[in-house]
Amino acid sequence: MVNVEKFVEDAINEIKEKVKDGKAIIALSGGVDSSVCTMLAYKAIGSRLIPVFVDTGLMREGEPERIKEIFGNMNLVFVEAKDEFLNALKGVDDPEEKRKIIGELFVRIFERIAEENKAEYLIQGTIYPDIIESQGGIKSHHNVGGFPINYKFKDVIEPLRELYKDEVREVARYLGLPKEIAERMPFPGPGLAVRIVGEVTPEKVEVVRKATKIVEEELEDYDKWQCFAALIGKATGVKGDIRIWGYIIAVRAVSSRDGMTADPLEIDYEKLRKIALRITAEIPEVSRVVYDVTPKPPSTIEYE
Ligand code: XMP
Repeated sequence: MVNVEKFVEDAINEIKEKVKDGKAIIALSGGVDSSVCTMLAYKAIGSRLIPVFVDTGLMREGEPERIKEIFGNMNLVFVEAKDEFLNALKGVDDPEEKRKIIGELFVRIFERIAEENKAEYLIQGTIYPDIIESQGGIKSHHNVGGFPINYKFKDVIEPLRELYKDEVREVARYLGLPKEIAERMPFPGPGLAVRIVGEVTPEKVEVVRKATKIVEEELEDYDKWQCFAALIGKATGVKGDIRIWGYIIAVRAVSSRDGMTADPLEIDYEKLRKIALRITAEIPEVSRVVYDVTPKPPSTIEYE
């Protein structure tokens, strides 16, 4: 991108011209894309913007609380829906089925809020690689646009449609968003659900959430696209002289420009060992930690 200032000016103008004196709604996830879009739209139409945050119970630690802190000055609609999502996922182990359930539930909630607020326009943080990957049919990415919305909007506005992730980050910094958002790693729409291989249970969500926090803390200073923990199965372990049938946590840390290809980080052995020891010591239910060295392709970045 040549000129951030010009991009921001044009994006604000585009939103102003399209929405005029109407109302627009945006699904705010806390990721850099939707956060940047929310900021741009807020600058364009102020309180006629309705950012919606749905707490699915599948977010990382502290995320919902931070959203309230950062965007609480706007007309933010905060939807508490943890139980709804976990109940809907009960007994489901197919990855695409999980995505579908989460996406549909999300859309239903979102439509309800749009209707209640009589929002005529939808703003989305779709970026260029989202469009490409969705066309390729690789995964049904959970952006609201990927699902049938019955609620009829006059128009859908996607201000970031031509940008790559690093360009969105540049815009985020320019707009003064906090570093934790501007530098935030991508996080899948279906959240921790696609980092649990197989059925999602409240216990597994808690385990993977705690493990993710440890991985993020330990690899904070590494130059990376993404790093996270995934719960990939069960294995035997010995804790306090007792054999346990615990969870296996996989640590995934990759570099990438746009998520379409990726390479695992070369993490030094001492660091890996520390991560394994911390995760098994701090999370009683975990018996084993492995480090994933597979590039994309042939693997994907996420486990599901
Ligand atoms: P994969 O796993 O396909 O991921 O190599 C590529 C990038 O996309 C993110 N990702 C998702 N993002 N909804 C999203 O919004 C999804 O269902 C989803 N699946 C993967 C992933 O985190 C990575 O950055």
